[in-house]
Amino acid sequence: MHSEPDYHHSDLRFPEAAVPSGKIAWRSPSNIALVKYWGKKPVQIPQNPSISFTLSKSRSETEVAYSPSVAGKPEMEFYFDGNRHPVFEQKTLKFFETLLDIFPFIGQLKFVIRSKNTFPHSAGIASSASGMSVLAMVLCDLERQYFGTLQNEDDFRRKASYVARLGSGSAARSVYGGLVIWGETEAVAGTSDFYGFPVNEGIDPVFQNYQDTILLVDAGQKKVSSRVGHSLMKTNPFAAERFRQAHRNLADLLKALRTGDMETFIRITESEALTLHAMMMTSQPYFLLMKPNTLQIIEKVFAFREETGLPLCFTLDAGPNVHLLYPASAKADILPFIQNELTAFLSPLGFIEDEVGNGPEKIL
Ligand code: PMV
Repeated sequence: MHSEPDYHHSDLRFPEAAVPSGKIAWRSPSNIALVKYWGKKPVQIPQNPSISFTLSKSRSETEVAYSPSVAGKPEMEFYFDGNRHPVFEQKTLKFFETLLDIFPFIGQLKFVIRSKNTFPHSAGIASSASGMSVLAMVLCDLERQYFGTLQNEDDFRRKASYVARLGSGSAARSVYGGLVIWGETEAVAGTSDFYGFPVNEGIDPVFQNYQDTILLVDAGQKKVSSRVGHSLMKTNPFAAERFRQAHRNLADLLKALRTGDMETFIRITESEALTLHAMMMTSQPYFLLMKPNTLQIIEKVFAFREETGLPLCFTLDAGPNVHLLYPASAKADILPFIQNELTAFLSPLGFIEDEVGNGPEKIL
């Protein structure tokens, strides 16, 4: 059992006369889970381990200007796509206030945050994963710049992942590139419920540069948030078995990723997607996030795979959009199928040609 790292650090305060001003910016990607996290314990502790591919193009870019707070507490203005966004402002300010024990210097600063996403938010592309991980990178970078701590890259990433998790569970995984596990599993030493752990060594080359074409079936706001969905697992009658299954699926999937066993990869990935939505349908109150076109696309994927033998499979997030996963080597065959046969089922936003990426980057 990995114990929780102690990040409470009362020394991380600026001298009263030397509270700095400056600007810092990071970009951080979303990720797509293969084995899903659905159900949690306080505080943001997952009920089961999960594993995801970090994406490349679907990301948040966030610039944070900071200056001395005049109110003696954290102050904030939050602009999303250039416009002041009161909802994100309240959410982010609340998040920062929960971090005052970890980063006491937050209380000395006013933050002017300008953020944008390269994809529609709340549409089942984990915008909270990119949005929260980017803030975690910024805060850890501020600590590193001004207090001389976190100089070691592993320490820096681990703390960023821990902090990102407190904002949104799945964000813990976006702090690293490639394949990332969050949640303790016997299958991999070093994994933890408190932060993500990259597992890119020994992965079969077919799973490197993996493609994720994200089909935007319905880019509107979700009716049920992930927060509510997680909490409904507390009373879901299938929850205990689901959590056990996730442990097994993660161990088996990892084996498949290491041996290049495409059949097992497809079977577990698709089953995880349908199980996630089965949990939604069996919660009380029950709810559906799939749309008719989500099912149409899934049927088409089954038929295409049967006909061509190509290794195309799907997964779903907590929303109606479909993520199509396939090796880069099959792209020339699969993209025309998407363009010709699936675009009729999509919203005007169409699809995003994403792929596995390397994780967050500092841009300023
Ligand atoms: O990080 P949250 O609380 O938004 O939960 C995300 C849950 C899923 O995206 C459905 C699954 C996952 O593991 O990312």
